[in-house]
Amino acid sequence: MQVLSSEVAKAVGMMKMKVVAFNGSPHPNGNTAQAIQVVLDAIHGFGIGTEVVQVGGKKLYGCMGCYQCRKIKNRHCVMNDDEVNGFIDKMLEADCIIFGSPVYSGNITAALKALIERSGFVAKGNDFMFRRKVGVPVVVATKAGGLFAHAAINLMFGTHQMVTIGSSYWSFVVGQEPGDIWKDEEGIKALRTLGENVAWLLSKIKEEKRR
Ligand SMILES: Cc1cc2nc3c(=O)[nH]c(=O)nc-3n(C[C@H](O)[C@H](O)[C@H](O)COP(=O)(O)O)c2cc1C
Repeated sequence: MQVLSSEVAKAVGMMKMKVVAFNGSPHPNGNTAQAIQVVLDAIHGFGIGTEVVQVGGKKLYGCMGCYQCRKIKNRHCVMNDDEVNGFIDKMLEADCIIFGSPVYSGNITAALKALIERSGFVAKGNDFMFRRKVGVPVVVATKAGGLFAHAAINLMFGTHQMVTIGSSYWSFVVGQEPGDIWKDEEGIKALRTLGENVAWLLSKIKEEKRR
């Protein structure tokens, strides 16, 4: 297959922006998945590609602190016995990265934390390879800890020179049983507004890249 150069792709307008959402919940159809989908549905109408990647429930190791990624600098972690490097590749492909998580014990899930630790350490050791990608947190809580989880995700984006984006409220919704989030009307509205703001920003970035 012939690969178009980025110049040609720009000229024929084929440069499609892409959002990749990582679901940190172990439930592929639970509240977090549904909350992520609300954001993606608001983005879909704008001709932007979207993908959901299941992270929660997978066996992912945290960072060993070996610093090898900073020596080897190949945009990957030296630990190759789980899916983190594949997730890193998907993050590299994306123009916008969504990290979604339910609140577990007052913060994000362990699986998402493992992904953030390892992808983040690799990224910093490879010239801030997520620099200027758009970063979006999506959080679900039953009662407490939503802001801690939201901040944990945003802090990752903020220390990677990524661009974060706001809505009419914090992008977290409230719910316990799957589907409960639909009762949180203000939260759902904030997620839709967030999706529209992401689409707007990505269209501006696309224009800028075409110039
Ligand atoms: C191990 C565990 C810990 C939890 N800790 C909290 C918590 O600290 N605060 C909270 O509000 N909800 C907590 N929850 C509730 C979940 O955040 C909530 O049920 C959420 O809607 C689940 O999302 P999901 O369907 O995407 O998995 C916890 C649930 C589990 C299983």
